[in-house]
Amino acid sequence: MALAKFLLTWPFSLILLFMIHCQPHHVEGAPETVPGIGVNWGVLATHPISPPIIVNMLKDNGIKKVKIFDTDSWIVGAFSGSDIELMVGIPNDQLRKLARDVNNAHDWVKNNVTKHLYKGAVNIRYVSVGNEPFLKSYNGSFVNITFPAMQNVQNALDKAGFGDRIKVTTALNADVYQSATDKPSDGEFRPDVYDAVKQIVEFLDEHNSPFLVNIYPFLSLYQNDGFPQDFAFFDGVENPVFDKNAEYHNVFDANLDTLVWALTKIGHPNVDIVIGEIGWPTDGNKHGTPSNAKRFYQGFLKKMATRNGTPLRPGLMDAYLFSLLDEDDKSIAPGNFERHWGIFRYDGKPKFEVDFSGNGENKMPVEAKGVVYQENKWCVLKPFDKSLNMSYLPGSLSYACALGDCTSLGAGSSCANQSQDGSASYAFNSYFQISDQSVEACDFKGLATIVTDDPTNGTCFFPIQIVSSGNMLRALLLKLGLFTGFSLIFLIFM
Ligand SMILES: *[C@@H]1O[C@H](CO)[C@@H](O)[C@H](O)[C@H]1NC(C)=O
Ligand SMILES: *[C@@H]1O[C@H](CO)[C@@H](O)[C@H](O)[C@H]1NC(C)=O
Ligand SMILES: *[C@@H]1O[C@H](CO)[C@@H](O)[C@H](O)[C@H]1NC(C)=O
Ligand SMILES: *[C@@H]1O[C@H](CO)[C@@H](O)[C@H](O)[C@H]1NC(C)=O
Ligand SMILES: *[C@@H]1O[C@H](CO)[C@@H](O)[C@H](O)[C@H]1NC(C)=O
Ligand SMILES: *[C@@H]1O[C@H](CO)[C@@H](O)[C@H](O)[C@H]1NC(C)=O
Repeated sequence: MALAKFLLTWPFSLILLFMIHCQPHHVEGAPETVPGIGVNWGVLATHPISPPIIVNMLKDNGIKKVKIFDTDSWIVGAFSGSDIELMVGIPNDQLRKLARDVNNAHDWVKNNVTKHLYKGAVNIRYVSVGNEPFLKSYNGSFVNITFPAMQNVQNALDKAGFGDRIKVTTALNADVYQSATDKPSDGEFRPDVYDAVKQIVEFLDEHNSPFLVNIYPFLSLYQNDGFPQDFAFFDGVENPVFDKNAEYHNVFDANLDTLVWALTKIGHPNVDIVIGEIGWPTDGNKHGTPSNAKRFYQGFLKKMATRNGTPLRPGLMDAYLFSLLDEDDKSIAPGNFERHWGIFRYDGKPKFEVDFSGNGENKMPVEAKGVVYQENKWCVLKPFDKSLNMSYLPGSLSYACALGDCTSLGAGSSCANQSQDGSASYAFNSYFQISDQSVEACDFKGLATIVTDDPTNGTCFFPIQIVSSGNMLRALLLKLGLFTGFSLIFLIFM
């Protein structure tokens, strides 16, 4: 009886299943993102995910604006046919060339911008000429060349006929302005960059381009242990800051209004402001945790959804979150947290709950689809055995950490509480994965061994690297190279 029933019903279920599966994949289910919200997509990773996978992930999450740091053709091209709006960047090391000769700017526009517009496909909206070129650590190297480079790029865009459609700006760090009293109304531009900023602001005002600024409440906390923690977030504070007629409940508002005051004093109070970078890291520092990152992003997105803006700049505001993905090849000069800014891990898996619609719901972003992993293999320290020469351990560890990524092992980080052996295993595995799991990369003078059981321990996650898009390309080129090699041999011996 039961069997008969099963036989009768299963074709029907099959048809149903079939119908469900054949629903066309449309992204209508994609959430409505807070207007104005974009993401930064940096690719300083040892194993970058291929651009088409990322573009699909952005669509799945309803992200409609993206900022990148150069004009890599594969990346820019991956946006063709999507309606995602793009801000491309010019790295600082190209500023001198562009500033020197307007013809270099014409070449740059032709080779890096116009190329993608002929197809009519990529929606390039901004060019950021330089990335934080006025950072104090650059010792003024770019102060005199950023503005001439911007002028030449604008000139080249005008000539190419895109001068109105594509806006020229430059991404400045928030330390180009300061306030002696910490009150926004005492805001002014830094004296050593004042003249350069004044020229730039006049240019932006004239061309209706935005002042692009990177604001990091995390750094307020990182750089100053006495900083009131709640002021870095958006959930309210016991003691707001009062300034003139305004009341400040978070450092973001105070920081942005410091800029508005500085702009006002320089004679351009109404220049548009766009947030070039804002975000929170998840590792590499005691304040960089997934729960703090979740608190920050949920609060920021909820605030953006209200469209209240800041006391001096009420209304909608564009902001690019920093960042989309972790980047394990970034310099850690500013701190170990530098490699952990991603909302998503190195492999496109989300790290914490964040609701891009600004409703504050506890839901994970949609992960990247189609990422290919290397094998289920890890490299760890061998279990203790008298034959192991442990005097090789310190040297092996520094080697592994210099070439791999040990930023999760530092104080306050996700692997800080591992035993000595656990820490060694973590370092060995990092180097092994970055080396594409090559057997030779898991030796360390006989101290290391490959295992197939995941050594992940609580918060201390032992990654398996992905097969990077770069490697796929290299493999392809190698094959092509071999092929031409073989044909050459063939030709020679015939
Ligand atoms: C952009 O254009 C310049 C000048 O033609 C070229 O040298 C450079 O390689 C291009 N940059 C990228 C990232 O494609
Ligand atoms: C800036 O100056 C300091 C001190 O003179 C030096 O150590 C550093 O390398 C310089 N940085 C750059 C980017 O030139
Ligand atoms: C920038 O220009 C100013 C004024 O012309 C000059 O005093 C300064 O030395 C220049 N700075 C650099 C780094 O070239
Ligand atoms: C361990 O290695 C060190 C350095 O090569 C060497 O001097 C020492 O003799 C070795 N110890 C053993 C027990 O093999
Ligand atoms: C590591 O141990 C300290 C002290 O017990 C604790 O406060 C911290 O939360 C631990 N960190 C992790 C990542 O488990
Ligand atoms: C695993 O983590 C716990 C605490 O988080 C720690 O006590 C233990 O030593 C770790 N195991 C290893 C092998 O590091």
